[in-house]
Amino acid sequence: MYSGQDSEAVMELLRNRGLEASVDIGIVTGTGLANILKEIENALDVPYDDLPGFPHGFVSGHARRLVIGNIGRLRVALLQGRSHYYETGDPQAMRTPIEVLLRLGAHSVVLTSSVGSVKPAMRPGALAIVTDHINLSGVNPLHNEQGDARFVPMNDAYDATLRHRLKRAAASQGVALHDSVYMFMPGPSFETPAEIRVAGMLGADIVGMSVVPETVIARRYGLKVAAMCAVTNLGAGLEGMVPSHNETKRMGATVAISLRRIFDTFIRTLDEP
Ligand code: HPA
Repeated sequence: MYSGQDSEAVMELLRNRGLEASVDIGIVTGTGLANILKEIENALDVPYDDLPGFPHGFVSGHARRLVIGNIGRLRVALLQGRSHYYETGDPQAMRTPIEVLLRLGAHSVVLTSSVGSVKPAMRPGALAIVTDHINLSGVNPLHNEQGDARFVPMNDAYDATLRHRLKRAAASQGVALHDSVYMFMPGPSFETPAEIRVAGMLGADIVGMSVVPETVIARRYGLKVAAMCAVTNLGAGLEGMVPSHNETKRMGATVAISLRRIFDTFIRTLDEP
């Protein structure tokens, strides 16, 4: 059973290193997307390796740092890099980082990730915003939790107001954001062409190996969630596609340029009605 001790220890370490104030929002960056925020001012910048319960392994394409500071009037905690279920076989791998966001005072978290597209019309380079997800993997981060809090409703898991604000920010930058249903794939092997066809039949628009366990944990704690996904490739077998991690990293970095423009506007307008 998860004790929360690691997140307490992380908070103490952050206070010892000069953490001054609470934060408004957390942002988790995925493969190739670490630099989607412009300069964070007065940053407290700590490598994950110093933080108990944070991901300590290495996946190429993932920076691993917690950066807390100001962007304009807003206090932001940027979690650069995540741990995936496929790295540990533990769907709770991101529980401590998300619990730390909660302890820091965040009310919302925006997850970013790379995904494959199940719909040929949504091409590599496109940006998707998650409206709902499908998780038929059998994996759930709340499996060994006791008590009634584990029965988390997942209606409206992705917050409509955050989504509206992100879409408004995207529109102001002339970037299209596609409403998408995200299907969780445990990885690390990519899907088979048959799995991609099934995903499409089941109503998925995109497939990915993160987002869902983090969303379940965040909803467990009552955090509002939004998820923005960079489409790095067509799903396996579509137009003969053979996905690769190199391509995911390369395309992720390209889409990050649009994401950065959206986040700049989103954050600058977050305290406006
Ligand atoms: N499948 C699963 N996860 C992914 C993909 C994919 O095709 N592309 C980027 N992340």
